[in-house]
Amino acid sequence: MKRVVFTFLLALTLFLDEATTMLNNTTTYSDSASDDVRIIISLWNHNKNNAFKQRINLIPFSRLNITVTDIPSDIWFIILQIHTFQYNATIAYDKELLDKVSNRSLFGSNIGLYVKTHNVTTPIQVFLKHYNLHNLDALLTIVAYDRNAPIPGGCNMEFDIEIAPYQNLRTENEMIIVDTQPASMLVDNSLPTLCETNPVQHKMYRLYLPRQDFTPDTYFEAITSMLTTQDIMQNGDEIPPTLMSPMRRIYSAYTGTGSVYAAIAIHGNYSSAYIPIFTYACSPLLYPETCQVLNDTFAKMICALVLIIGFLLIIIGHKYTYINRLITSCMMGGIFGYTLAIGLSDHSTTINILIGSTSAILAVALSAFLRSACELCTFLSNLPLGFLCACITYLYAPACMFYILERDWLFWPMFVSLMLTIAVLLTKMPYIAGIITRAVFGSYFVIIAIDYYTGSNLKYIILTFIRRVTISEFRLAFVYPPYQHADVTLIIIWFVLIIAQFFIQGCAKLCEKMSEELVESAGNNTETTVLIPKERKKSYSRYYRKPYKSYSRYYRKPYNRYNLL
Ligand SMILES: *[C@@H]1O[C@H](CO)[C@@H](O)[C@H](O)[C@H]1NC(C)=O
Ligand SMILES: *[C@@H]1O[C@H](CO)[C@@H](O)[C@H](O)[C@H]1NC(C)=O
Ligand SMILES: *[C@@H]1O[C@H](CO)[C@@H](O)[C@H](O)[C@H]1NC(C)=O
Ligand SMILES: *[C@@H]1O[C@H](CO)[C@@H](O)[C@H](O)[C@H]1NC(C)=O
Ligand SMILES: *[C@@H]1O[C@H](CO)[C@@H](O)[C@H](O)[C@H]1NC(C)=O
Ligand SMILES: *[C@@H]1O[C@H](CO)[C@@H](O)[C@H](O)[C@H]1NC(C)=O
Repeated sequence: MKRVVFTFLLALTLFLDEATTMLNNTTTYSDSASDDVRIIISLWNHNKNNAFKQRINLIPFSRLNITVTDIPSDIWFIILQIHTFQYNATIAYDKELLDKVSNRSLFGSNIGLYVKTHNVTTPIQVFLKHYNLHNLDALLTIVAYDRNAPIPGGCNMEFDIEIAPYQNLRTENEMIIVDTQPASMLVDNSLPTLCETNPVQHKMYRLYLPRQDFTPDTYFEAITSMLTTQDIMQNGDEIPPTLMSPMRRIYSAYTGTGSVYAAIAIHGNYSSAYIPIFTYACSPLLYPETCQVLNDTFAKMICALVLIIGFLLIIIGHKYTYINRLITSCMMGGIFGYTLAIGLSDHSTTINILIGSTSAILAVALSAFLRSACELCTFLSNLPLGFLCACITYLYAPACMFYILERDWLFWPMFVSLMLTIAVLLTKMPYIAGIITRAVFGSYFVIIAIDYYTGSNLKYIILTFIRRVTISEFRLAFVYPPYQHADVTLIIIWFVLIIAQFFIQGCAKLCEKMSEELVESAGNNTETTVLIPKERKKSYSRYYRKPYKSYSRYYRKPYNRYNLL
């Protein structure tokens, strides 16, 4: 009885779906004698440039017979796809294969099969089954192609199913690796072309979802926008090929941000799309904590501390330039120590953090020690800004730069020379350099802390560098991060903070200058009028000490025009 109700409900959902989404000519039959459900899809009047789409909802442990009818005669093959939300399912050519592992069935959540439809007399059927304890929320789609279209995965050499229009995705070492199999062409006598001399061209695309959005509607909407070649080219970002293999793409993983990977095969004027594949780079269903960047109290406290330090640097940093420099060295030392610790061997996170902290303390000590040796120390204190700029350039480099970035022998010299160039340029104008370094770093502390709380992507400016150093294959990864509202907002806040600091420092300088003039005029006055009231003298001497200290360089080298700025 329960089953009947369930199947009835299923049929109802199918009909409701049909009514609301105006999807095509679909009929469903439920068979109350078993768990099986049947769905019949008619491609009558179906336009070959549009994908057929149907949301389905299957009760636990159910099977679905999918029959496709009324296929127009100009359609030579279809790619029938099932996209499930979070859970896995099995799709197979034969009903008997649903329970086994075979080379005619496929298990996963973005799966599908190539089905030949031209000159076929048997009914066109595909079978679906799932073993989940929960209802399976899925999207059934069909994309039809004519005889000129390349067959996605037709030259498959590695995947299990002979013609493999699907892609393979795995997440490891903070990288997402997507593999695709080459497409084949039908030549005039309807025989597939030789795969050795494959004339088909392949392009890969990626689409990001809003971060931390794990709702089924967003997921299905993203999948439906990446089904046909036109949609993929319109909605996705094209990803350049890596050195290693034209059919593989490697991406930097952005935890908790969903991403759809699509591929298209192009031959002359004709193209066809592979089955898109999806990942959140974490597992929101089984391990929700993996999708959170800040998942323990300790990390949250560290962030709060960084936030406070950042605010202090912004507000009063210009008064204590020396401390400011120590904190910057501390950060650089920490980053390098931590990177080194990860790079050298597989310690636990605690040990890595310990090594990072030790290195940070060493850097502070070194920085304090080097305070007197002037030329070198100015140069060293400008290195962090050069480093930050080089990291930002690496992260946000346009796709056309990928050709350079993926080659270590081109990348590292460029990275280092960019860093050194910026540091040397800044050394030429130490006063401005000091202001810029304080402004950029003080606000970066604030930004990075907020970034961890909101889960946006500015932290990857440094994290990507660490990944690049510590993960050997990462050079092949395409790193460009998602650029969404939160990121834009944070970047704007960053700029506002930087400008605010210029104002704060400008004002502070103006005040000092005015007091300096006062002091000077007061000094002139002392020669003529010997008597100065006692309190006034006191207050002048307070002003006197500070400007003398911070502008000692200015007084020493009065002809250096940069110092006058
Ligand atoms: C639905 O398909 C049937 C054939 O299976 C056809 O006769 C009918 O006209 C189609 N209806 C629509 C609305 O396309
Ligand atoms: C599903 O298909 C199989 C094989 O074609 C058939 O035996 C079974 O009765 C079908 N089930 C339904 C509900 O149509
Ligand atoms: C689906 O299958 C993949 C690969 O076999 C597995 O890693 C994942 O945990 C499965 N998902 C669920 C929800 O069982
Ligand atoms: C259709 O298939 C049959 C064999 O299954 C073959 O003899 C015939 O030539 C095919 N027709 C076309 C137009 O491909
Ligand atoms: C698929 O597996 C069967 C046996 O399980 C084997 O005979 C057949 O050659 C395989 N086909 C391919 C394309 O690997
Ligand atoms: C592609 O289409 C253009 C016009 O749309 C046509 O001139 C050209 O011959 C076509 N090329 C191929 C390879 O079919």
